Amino acid sequence: MRSGSTLLRRRAREVSGGLRIKTSSNIIMHFQDGKLVIENCMTRRSFYGSPDTVFLLNYFSTWKIADRPSHALGQFSRASVIDSIQDLLRRGLLIMEDSDEQRLEEKFSKKWLWPVPSRYYHFTTKLDEPFSTSDEIKTYYENHLKGSAQPPIYKEYPGSRKVRLLSGARPEVPLFETMRRRRTSREFSGKPIELGDLSTIAYYTWGELSTYKTKEFGQLLHKTSPSAGARHPIEAYAVINKVKGVAPGIYHYSVKHHRLELLRTGDFRDLCVKFSAGQKWTRESSALFLMTARVSRTAWKYRTPRAYRAFLLDAGHLSQSFLLVSTALGLGAFCIGVINDVAIEKELGIDGINEAAIFAVGVGQRFKRTKT
Ligand SMILES: Cc1cc2nc3c(=O)[nH]c(=O)nc-3n(C[C@H](O)[C@H](O)[C@H](O)COP(=O)(O)O)c2cc1C
Repeated sequence: MRSGSTLLRRRAREVSGGLRIKTSSNIIMHFQDGKLVIENCMTRRSFYGSPDTVFLLNYFSTWKIADRPSHALGQFSRASVIDSIQDLLRRGLLIMEDSDEQRLEEKFSKKWLWPVPSRYYHFTTKLDEPFSTSDEIKTYYENHLKGSAQPPIYKEYPGSRKVRLLSGARPEVPLFETMRRRRTSREFSGKPIELGDLSTIAYYTWGELSTYKTKEFGQLLHKTSPSAGARHPIEAYAVINKVKGVAPGIYHYSVKHHRLELLRTGDFRDLCVKFSAGQKWTRESSALFLMTARVSRTAWKYRTPRAYRAFLLDAGHLSQSFLLVSTALGLGAFCIGVINDVAIEKELGIDGINEAAIFAVGVGQRFKRTKT
């Protein structure tokens, strides 16, 4: 393996040897506590910068040969320019032509068709480590919320005219009862769930109810949850821990055939904890479903960065369907937003660019406390 300094010497030769360099197209700059922060939102690395850094990044906003004399850089010595270029290359703020970084940026721009705002939000909020422990979270809230009252949980217009709404105006249907019973379960008995339950949950959450043809957009899916433009970008992967008749492992849910496609067998209960960024109780669930978004499905039709919201909203709808179906079947279910996106993407073999982890939901037999 080449050492960092050898690599830098090679890069210095390349830099002075006519290789082209450009500023990454994923840079965001902002001020924090009076300091200029420069972030590459794709690599999720951030640094403090100076006006000189901005000057150089601006100079390299189009491909340039680094050592070609330029009046624009006349104010700096050649040695300091080379030094700064090496530094910016190392930080991923500048990229070299024909490098892995350039190839990744190209792939990124082709797949993630929306401009920087959606990239910035998605990539800088990705987690790749366990979330804080419950003690750390408790301390954080104690300090963070100290002396501040909770904002009102209701909003009201006291001076307005009121219309009294009726309760029990319509006959109770099973859906209403299920909705009232839904609550997050985090304790499970450890008993397996039935394959019939798993199949029902998958079908009524992600399954294809029917398809229809449109002139402009071709064949589209109808599911129990809505999806912006019927793009249905969300895919589901099941980590099976305890389901009767299904070998523990990681599976992909095939919408087309309503079946599970085995990716890997094995005991992945510890990985459930990793996937949920350290939430230990998830290892006792019978199945943990990881939801990802196929970016191009949505980007193909919608080019505005706002379309990114559709991933989050779709995952939210699907999650609620999942929770209600599980509740209707008498099972305990949960949804988790604190997920280790990077670990999930690595394990599923997805690139995080055209397919990215978004949300997770899980189900199991509820742990019933005995009344004392
Ligand atoms: C977007 C979202 C993310 C959530 N993430 C987590 C999570 O990471 N871990 C967890 O234990 N609960 C998580 N929850 C569940 C909430 O904590 C739970 O819904 C809330 O406490 C209300 O309880 P209830 O669902 O029983 O009504 C999440 C819920 C939502 C909607």
